[in-house]
Amino acid sequence: MERIKEKYTHELARFEVQRNNIRRLWNIQQDTAELLYTFVKIKKPKHILEIGTSNGFSTFWLSIASESYDAVIDTIEVDKDRFKLAKRNLKNRKNIIQRFGKAELIIPELLDKFDFVFIDAGKINYIDYIKILISKLKNNAIIIADNIISHKDSIKEYLDYIESSGLFDNVTLNIDSGLNVAIYKANKIR
Ligand SMILES: C[S@@+](CC[C@H](N)C(=O)[O-])C[C@H]1O[C@@H](n2cnc3c(N)ncnc32)[C@H](O)[C@@H]1O
Repeated sequence: MERIKEKYTHELARFEVQRNNIRRLWNIQQDTAELLYTFVKIKKPKHILEIGTSNGFSTFWLSIASESYDAVIDTIEVDKDRFKLAKRNLKNRKNIIQRFGKAELIIPELLDKFDFVFIDAGKINYIDYIKILISKLKNNAIIIADNIISHKDSIKEYLDYIESSGLFDNVTLNIDSGLNVAIYKANKIR
């Protein structure tokens, strides 16, 4: 990953300054960023959805992983200041559509289906996001959810659903705040 970090030294340095100086950005940690990058590189999703942009750090990693082919990232943020900061941070990225507002209200309006989703917003709401999302997932879509270990009580309903609905194969990784990686099986016999 050193080659990638070197290529984007300038942009990553700006995110680092913001991480150290602005409160409540809640950016993912470096290993999680690199894992997202790697999953996108392997899967090559055409349409990515991110719930929880903040200042755009994780969005940036999704974007550089998917810039070499025809992919689009929709990313949703409800906080005006963080949304605007992300606009500035991501202004040179070509494959990102930033959406301002509550994910619960925006997702139903999105027309396309997704093959990769990163969930990193209100922890207690993960269960709502996934239920709204189901009809918008392509078969074999990958859904990565952050804070599975750090916020295990808040995300319990989400994890129970992922594990018991019969709709997903999944694994929880003990990386940084804890990541659940789920694969949506539209045709799974239930
Ligand atoms: C953990 S931070 C996201 C960090 C970002 N993924 C990163 O690593 O740079 C969570 C963000 O989700 C936003 N958020 C919380 N609830 C939301 C909702 N219902 N819809 C959209 N965004 C939401 C918060 O305002 C916050 O900026």
